[in-house]
Amino acid sequence: MTKDIAVRTATAANNPAPRLQVWRELEAHFEKIKDLHLRQLFADDPKRGERLSAEALGLHLDYSKNRITDETLSLLTKLAHVSGLQERIDAMFRGEKINLTEKRAVLHTALRAPRNFSVLVDGEDVVPKVHAVLDRMGAFATRVRTGEWKGHTGKRIRNVINVGIGGSDLGPVMAYEALKHYSDRGMTFRFVSNIDSTDLAEAVRELDPAETMFVISSKTFTTLETMTNARSARAWLLAGLGGDEKSVAKHFVAVSTNASEVSKFGIDTANMFEFWDWVGGRYSMSSAIGLSTMVAIGPDNFQAMLSGLHQMDEHFRTTPFEHNLPVLMGLLALWYNDFFGAQTVAVLPYEQYLKRFPAYLQQLTMESNGKHVTVDGKRVAQPTGPIYWGEPGTNGQHSFYQLIHQGTRLVPCDFIAFCQPLNPIGRHHDMLFANVCAQTEALAFGKTLKELKAEDTPEWLAPHRVFEGNRPSNTILAERLTPETLGKLVALYEQSVFTQGAIWNIDSFDQWGVELGKVLAQAIIPELESKADPKLSHDSSTNNLISYYRKSKETV
Ligand code: F6P
Repeated sequence: MTKDIAVRTATAANNPAPRLQVWRELEAHFEKIKDLHLRQLFADDPKRGERLSAEALGLHLDYSKNRITDETLSLLTKLAHVSGLQERIDAMFRGEKINLTEKRAVLHTALRAPRNFSVLVDGEDVVPKVHAVLDRMGAFATRVRTGEWKGHTGKRIRNVINVGIGGSDLGPVMAYEALKHYSDRGMTFRFVSNIDSTDLAEAVRELDPAETMFVISSKTFTTLETMTNARSARAWLLAGLGGDEKSVAKHFVAVSTNASEVSKFGIDTANMFEFWDWVGGRYSMSSAIGLSTMVAIGPDNFQAMLSGLHQMDEHFRTTPFEHNLPVLMGLLALWYNDFFGAQTVAVLPYEQYLKRFPAYLQQLTMESNGKHVTVDGKRVAQPTGPIYWGEPGTNGQHSFYQLIHQGTRLVPCDFIAFCQPLNPIGRHHDMLFANVCAQTEALAFGKTLKELKAEDTPEWLAPHRVFEGNRPSNTILAERLTPETLGKLVALYEQSVFTQGAIWNIDSFDQWGVELGKVLAQAIIPELESKADPKLSHDSSTNNLISYYRKSKETV
């Protein structure tokens, strides 16, 4: 599809008149209910907790502790309809080039489609290609895991280091940490992303090069951080293996869309696992970018994760908005962002294995929806992209929850919890789960001055101990954290991001905002490294910083 046709499709689906009309209705409705307290909403409807819950694919979403009424939900779903959300969903799954500014299809959903599916990109069915790569990955992962793949000196590979950044790091490291319980504990997995040499130095510390494999993961294979780390990793390996260039083939594999750059780097393309330009970096953990995850947890568990992703994709594509988990979550995030003026969403997993989940979500949500213009280049009319952040519970309770409970800002929260622990010890899990319930209850209902007085709290102290409540939260429950459940959770957030972006009518799949800094850094590197004093022509602050650094370097 050409850009013009694509723009027309997108704007036709987002005919501004009905959208504006519903937006006005939502504004009027917001004025009516903005001060309504969750205490009141629950008192008025004793079955609210059951009624405002949705269940799908083994995930239970309790959204009753949100500052919404039935009318809010009906207006929000109406907004989704008039914004052309269903048309956009269909266009994405059909392989249309909905990433308008990069003229690309957006088909991470094809990466987890079963073999018997068919997804056309420019008239070609991509599902057979996807499965061919998955099969190669499976065979490779098995060879490494069983020790059949030997290093240059004949030793088996025991350490795998993924070198990548952004989507080529955050997905793999999050999935590895999340699914560590299912991983091969006889092997060590590490992740290097930062161009700060400490990252690589610490990752290779105490490892035997003869037992170490590097997975160089980069969609473009040109990213400064990854290529710099990959070259230094190569030097480390060669230094440890007597400088024999032939060793690279046994210790380096690549994951990329760019075969020519892979071979220029010196990696045999026979050791390259391919993906395609219709996979965005932050949506790539289900592509070959997941190679290190697959080596860690094995092909069957990786397949189970893909199945979870696919199930949620299908739920998103086919379920009426009122029961559609990603749509509901997307609409609620938009409700707080655009009407209550909340600037952030806290994601609070009560599962230690999900410790990197909030960091992963930061790229997914903010690189996708941190946009200031619509698909047709006009300034957006509402704030977009809330800031996602978080930490696992209960740690967060002893640090930043104070602000969420008693601060002056509204911070909508997503609590994620599991009914069964992966490492049951004594009463830990009951205590953990009690904290999930307690926190959402305290946030919603708080503690009034009257209640404090009834407890004989001294008058001077009482205001400090008041919890106003009315702080909204979602609670997402599942039975236990499995590869399949992780897949469902990831797709839940991916498609919630899609929902929000579709309503804002922005391109959730480009990332031009990361470019300027990259270009400027390329100009500054020689100014830091040149022997002769460079002629600096930046602003006075930047010039000063560069000079300060150069002076400090001279003293070393
Ligand atoms: O700079 C941002 C970005 O392009 C991300 O979107 C991407 O995930 C990351 O860099 C890494 O890119 P690559 O996989 O091409 O090295």
